Amino acid sequence: MTFDNIIGHRSRPRRMRRTQRIRDLVHETDLGLEHLIQGVFVTHGRNKKQAIASMPGIYRWSIDRLIPYVKSLADIGLKHIVLFGLPAQKDAMGSGADDENGIIQQALRALKRAKVDMTFVADTCLCEYTDHGHCGLPAVDGSPVDNESTLERLASLAVSQAEAGADIVAPSGMVDGTVAVVREALNRNNFPHVPILMYSVKYQSAFYGPFREAAAGAPQKGDRSSYQMDIRNAREALYEASLDIAEGADMLMVKPALSYLDVIQRLRQHCDLPIAAYNVSGEYAMVKAAAQNGWLDEQKAVLEILTSIRRAGADLILTYHAESVARWRQPKTSKKLRGN
Ligand code: PBG
Repeated sequence: MTFDNIIGHRSRPRRMRRTQRIRDLVHETDLGLEHLIQGVFVTHGRNKKQAIASMPGIYRWSIDRLIPYVKSLADIGLKHIVLFGLPAQKDAMGSGADDENGIIQQALRALKRAKVDMTFVADTCLCEYTDHGHCGLPAVDGSPVDNESTLERLASLAVSQAEAGADIVAPSGMVDGTVAVVREALNRNNFPHVPILMYSVKYQSAFYGPFREAAAGAPQKGDRSSYQMDIRNAREALYEASLDIAEGADMLMVKPALSYLDVIQRLRQHCDLPIAAYNVSGEYAMVKAAAQNGWLDEQKAVLEILTSIRRAGADLILTYHAESVARWRQPKTSKKLRGN
C-alpha cells in the first residue's frame, strides 16, 4: 500500500460525514413507524383515562375512550399496538383472561367495530388476571406455575383473542411448550393465519417495575425466577429460541431490550425469523424521569435508544415511546397555510 493510499483511507470517515445528505446516503440503520408497536393499557369501567405515575404519558383507558385514542394513534401514522388488560376482578385461576366478554376481548371487538386500521397484538398471558400475579396456575407442589394446566388456558386465551379480532398473539409467560399448544389450537379453530409472536427470551428483570404498577400485576409471593431467564445467561437464550422455532413460532422476542442488546445480536446471527425487542416500562421510565428533570434531551435519547435496538438486529420494537416518535415525525404545519 502506498503512502497516498494510507492518507486516503484515514480521512474517509470525515469525508463521508461532511453533509447531512452524505450522512443519509450511507446510513446503515432505519427506524420507521412500521417497526414500532405501541403498548396500550385498557381498563374496565367508563370514561377513564388514568395516569400511571411511573410511566408519564401512558394511561389506562376505558374502552369508550380507548377507541378515539387509538384512532388518534393511527392518524399520526402508527401501524401497530399491543394491548394489555386490567379486568374488574382477579382470581386464582385468572378466569377473566379467556372470558369471551373479558376486557381485551371487548376492547378488540370495539376497535374492529370502529374500523380502526391497525395491527392489534394481544398479550397472551394470565398474570394480569390472576390474584397471585403469576403468569400461570399454581402447581400442587407449591411452585408458582404448573405447566400443563397453564398451557390449556393459554390455548383457550389465544383462541378467544383471535375470535375477538387479535391480528397477532404474543404469549409472554415463558411457559414451556406454549407455541406448539397455541399453534395447534389456533389452527383447529380456523385461525391458521394468526401469527405467534413468542416471548422466547424473557429475563427475570428489574425493568418491569412500572408495568407491574400499570397492570397491577406484581407477584404477591415470590418472584418469576423459576420461569423467567437468569440475567447471567446468553447461550441459554439460543436454546430457548431453538425450542420455540421448532414448535412453529413466527417471530421471537427478546425482553428487555437495552441490557440485552448482545442477546438480540446473537439471536440475529443464529436465526432467520423476525426478531422483536421489548423496550420495557423501566427503560421508558428512566428516560422520562431524566427528561422531566432536564437531564436528557428526550427526543434525541429516545431515537438513539430505538436506533441502537434496530442496529443490534431487532426487526420490530415494542415500545411506549412509539407515540412520541410518530408525533415528532408529523410535518410541521405552516402558519401561512393553516388559515386557508
Ligand atoms: C407479563 C408481562 C410483563 C410485561 C409484559 N407482559 C412483565 C412481567 O413479567 O411482569 C412487562 C412489560 C414492561 O415492563 O413494559 N406477562
